[in-house]
Amino acid sequence: MSERTFVMVKPDGVQRGLTGEIVSRFEDRGLKLVGAKFMQIDQELAEEHYGEHEGKPFFDGLVEFITSGPVMAMVWEGDDAIRQVRRMMGETDPADSAPGTIRGDFGLDLGRNVIHGSDHEDPGSNEREIDLFFDEDELVDYEKVDEGWLY
Ligand code: PPS
Repeated sequence: MSERTFVMVKPDGVQRGLTGEIVSRFEDRGLKLVGAKFMQIDQELAEEHYGEHEGKPFFDGLVEFITSGPVMAMVWEGDDAIRQVRRMMGETDPADSAPGTIRGDFGLDLGRNVIHGSDHEDPGSNEREIDLFFDEDELVDYEKVDEGWLY
């Protein structure tokens, strides 16, 4: 089933010049980019985005980190996109992530794990996150000519 998922290259990924590599991986996989915004997250947006983690010991550090520099916010579309993106990302802790995954290839530190993707175990989180970061008219509806048979 085709679905949309919210993905963000975090400040460490942007600073390390990994944005293009990460975009390429999703393109190569056959996912379709339908929205992208290079932006600086402010305190209010960070606290709303990570609101479910308020009160946890890592919350303040997470908000500080995500507001520390620009991020690349994106929406990717495709069959089973939410779960497939999470599989390509690896585990929350890069040290537990298999080589070949984004975190397994580019990270070692839980506090600097390069990428965020909507949680496939939290139904509706993709739509909540997309709505939080994008207006409807910032998402582009188009057909990929190769869709359905080239991958
Ligand atoms: S939880 O408690 O199991 O729901 O948390 P989890 O889903 O594993 O992680 C939620 C987000 O918090 C980040 N995180 C951390 N950041 C910094 N330091 C520590 N110790 C830490 N633990 C978790 C984690 O990367 C998740 O961020 P996103 O952007 O959702 O991947």
